Amino acid sequence: MKKIAVFTSGGDSPGMNPCIRAVVRAALYHEIEVVGIRRGYKGMIENDFEPLDSKAVSYILNRGGTMLGSARSQAFHTKEGRAEAYKNLKAHNVDGVVAIGGDGTFTGAKVFMEEYNDIHFIGVPGTIDNDLYGTDFTIGYDTAVNTAMEAIDKIKDTAVSHDRLFFVEVMGRDAGFIAALSGIAAGAKAILIPETKTDINELVDLLRKNAEKKKLSNIVVVAEGDDEGGAFEIAQKVKSKIGIFDVKVTILGHLQRGGSPTCMDRVLASRLGVAAVEALKNGVNGVMVGQLHRDISYIPLEQAIKHNQKYSDHWEKLVEILAF
Ligand code: F6P
Repeated sequence: MKKIAVFTSGGDSPGMNPCIRAVVRAALYHEIEVVGIRRGYKGMIENDFEPLDSKAVSYILNRGGTMLGSARSQAFHTKEGRAEAYKNLKAHNVDGVVAIGGDGTFTGAKVFMEEYNDIHFIGVPGTIDNDLYGTDFTIGYDTAVNTAMEAIDKIKDTAVSHDRLFFVEVMGRDAGFIAALSGIAAGAKAILIPETKTDINELVDLLRKNAEKKKLSNIVVVAEGDDEGGAFEIAQKVKSKIGIFDVKVTILGHLQRGGSPTCMDRVLASRLGVAAVEALKNGVNGVMVGQLHRDISYIPLEQAIKHNQKYSDHWEKLVEILAF
């Protein structure tokens, strides 16, 4: 392994910068040359490569977003696009690639590797959604749940002061991890997630019982992928069945993706970045490096994408008990 490339792809997540820094510093430590590819697969196709030295990644450890930029590339879905990407990687003499991203990024890498097998790929889980199998946490998740928790705390001040019922929608695509943890941490009365079927009548009953106990201020956290719809839709359904609440809706949106990474995300990103380079150096190919039970784990890219992280129903029980 003489030269590697690193890129970030898909939705940016806080911690991608510390991960890039770790990849660059680890590569240089092991006397491997390193280039950055700007804007993910798009830049790979458009030949947007830049050499990276130790100084290029100074003072990015605490910055949100990604210094390399990110994109969701349609062209990489085509055979021609991937052929162009391969041509550029070869022209830059790249032997191995570190791909920091989520399931879309790894799916792209998997398809590419089926067509071209002389360039090694290692994935690093970078997404706020925490929806990849084979790692306890993805890079950016800890920062995102803390951001969501702080936002819900603030909304709760108004909910309590005005006796209001708030539906707060959080991100996560089709996974409920951000909703579950931020909701528990901020004392939500109910948390609606895609992994479990939402029953509007049950929710209405719960809110009625709360009203009987004179609890008119309530927070319901809704994961954006919930089967009953987004926060606006669910609020509407509840309102039509129970008219006693002053109902408000807040969508947290992209503010959950930004900001300085937490200590947990910086350390995870640093550790996985180094592990990715060492995996390439040791001839490993086609796996995602993760952290499972505090140890570094290696899982085939295909499994990381397909199996998803299992949502445990003990969270649900916890919410029920804590909201009693
Ligand atoms: O995968 C990260 C994520 O923020 C999801 O939680 C969300 O559904 C999606 O990306 C939003 O994507 P975009 O920024 O392209 O709208």
